[in-house]
Amino acid sequence: MIQISALDGPFDWVALFGNASPVEVEIGCGKGRFLIASAMQYPDVNYVGIERAVRYFRIVKERVARRALTNVRLLCDDAGYFVRKFIPDGSIGAYHVYFPDPWPKKRHRKRRLFQGDFPAHLARTLCAEGTIDLATDYEEYFSEIVSLLDACPGLRRMSGLPDRVRLLGTGVTNFEVKYTAEGRLIYRAAFRKTDDGFPLAQE
Ligand SMILES: C[S@@+](CC[C@H](N)C(=O)[O-])C[C@H]1O[C@@H](n2cnc3c(N)ncnc32)[C@H](O)[C@@H]1O
Repeated sequence: MIQISALDGPFDWVALFGNASPVEVEIGCGKGRFLIASAMQYPDVNYVGIERAVRYFRIVKERVARRALTNVRLLCDDAGYFVRKFIPDGSIGAYHVYFPDPWPKKRHRKRRLFQGDFPAHLARTLCAEGTIDLATDYEEYFSEIVSLLDACPGLRRMSGLPDRVRLLGTGVTNFEVKYTAEGRLIYRAAFRKTDDGFPLAQE
């Protein structure tokens, strides 16, 4: 488990995992269905699951421990803060953001994950060719996220999904399963880091 209180600067992934495998981050991993499926399918990739809700965090933590997955680390905190403050430039192979809370009420919009400089910090922390994969059932938030990422220097929208995600198939997050069963439309987009340079410096 990662403890933000023990950190005082950019994170050292090699020290954390004990190897130099690529690192992928799932933001809002919930009960961990995608994180665990990915970690089992791709043992040569390191996965970081960030989940701020303690009750979901406890579930994913127990599931990861039960499977003795050595390529997973978990953080119970706000992903926006962690990405902005602690993730080093160019160190992440992929971000996965599935069904981010849409905060539909206007007065709650400031709680959304995608706002302000967050897209620029995703771009800053991705390595060359790194990807962001996004899914949501909430059309208005989807359009807003796509506009923000489209406008972010260093990112370009992909025509399909990142390979590892595509090969896992459908129904790999708990909310995807739930919403698909309810017949809801699911909006998806993926972006790739280009070599246009980092728009921000580490804070
Ligand atoms: C709608 S659920 C989706 C869970 C999972 N991704 C899935 O598709 O089944 C959104 C999750 O993101 C978490 N979350 C929302 N904002 C977050 C943030 N800023 N940092 C970490 N977790 C966050 C919530 O606690 C919740 O578990």
